[in-house]
Amino acid sequence: MGNIRKFVVNLNWSVMDFVSEINSLRKEKNAVILAHYYQIPEIQDIADYIGDSLALARRAAETQADIIVFAGVHFMAETAKILNPDRKVLLPDLNAGCSLADSCDAEELAAMKAQFPDHKVLSYVNCSAKVKALSDIICTSGNALKIVETFPKDEKILFVPDRNLGAYINRQTGRDMKLWNGSCQIHDLLDAEKVLKLKQTYPDAKVIAHPECNPAVLQVADFVGSTAAMLNYIVKDSAREYIVATETGILHQMQKSVPGKKFYVASNEESCACNDCPHMKLNTMEKLYRCLRDETPEIILDRELMDKARKPIETMLSLS
Ligand code: 13P
Repeated sequence: MGNIRKFVVNLNWSVMDFVSEINSLRKEKNAVILAHYYQIPEIQDIADYIGDSLALARRAAETQADIIVFAGVHFMAETAKILNPDRKVLLPDLNAGCSLADSCDAEELAAMKAQFPDHKVLSYVNCSAKVKALSDIICTSGNALKIVETFPKDEKILFVPDRNLGAYINRQTGRDMKLWNGSCQIHDLLDAEKVLKLKQTYPDAKVIAHPECNPAVLQVADFVGSTAAMLNYIVKDSAREYIVATETGILHQMQKSVPGKKFYVASNEESCACNDCPHMKLNTMEKLYRCLRDETPEIILDRELMDKARKPIETMLSLS
């Protein structure tokens, strides 16, 4: 059957065909599928675990599977590989990158570290393995406030690569971290004016936003948090409608969790798919199936680099 799978590509396959093939392949190969909330609904529905960056890093650290298929973007799969150097980690599309990770070049960071030797480097998980290897500790949007508070109040900190998340942490904690000038191409472009316009149309809707959004959007938000925190909020909160300022993939879990509530996407343009992360959406059911079948594309990293990058991730996991 495995050999037949290798050669047969049926152009008329439906989602259901992929679902049954993926189900038998993952059993046969002892593979686990981890998916981020920004993945397409079909991938979210077939994943063994779905979560935000923090939850998925934890799952990756705990798994006993022989193969980890990471339905997310490159830095997430890299994190899983760093935590599992002896397991095979697959990413359905190797081109699924991240504008934030791309904005922070490891050599530039090394030069900045040399310029500010008395600063600790706190890196948002959306960065490359090389940047992680230069960091003292990692954080995700789900634990950033908690992690920063593990440093003494007067500690000098360089925060990379997201200036919006960094500025949010500074505002919330009264710190003055030095910020790298990176941003997420989706969240940074969301427009506070458009959010307020939506609010006029839906006056009872609460605004919930990811901390990667620009400060003007965060200022008009009723709640700011990671994807998991937003999901948790809409389940517990009493409002019935929400304007959601983040990538659209999360709406699938929101609608599933509280089917009676309404969600409006805080887009930066009317009637466009601008909140769809072009990298996250590169993964499809067909690519997921093919990568499980062929065990490629695989994340390959240098051992020494992984050893250096693992320490700040493990420090984060032990503190959150
Ligand atoms: P989460 O920490 O909410 O998973 O966010 C990850 C991310 O990449 C947001 O753009």
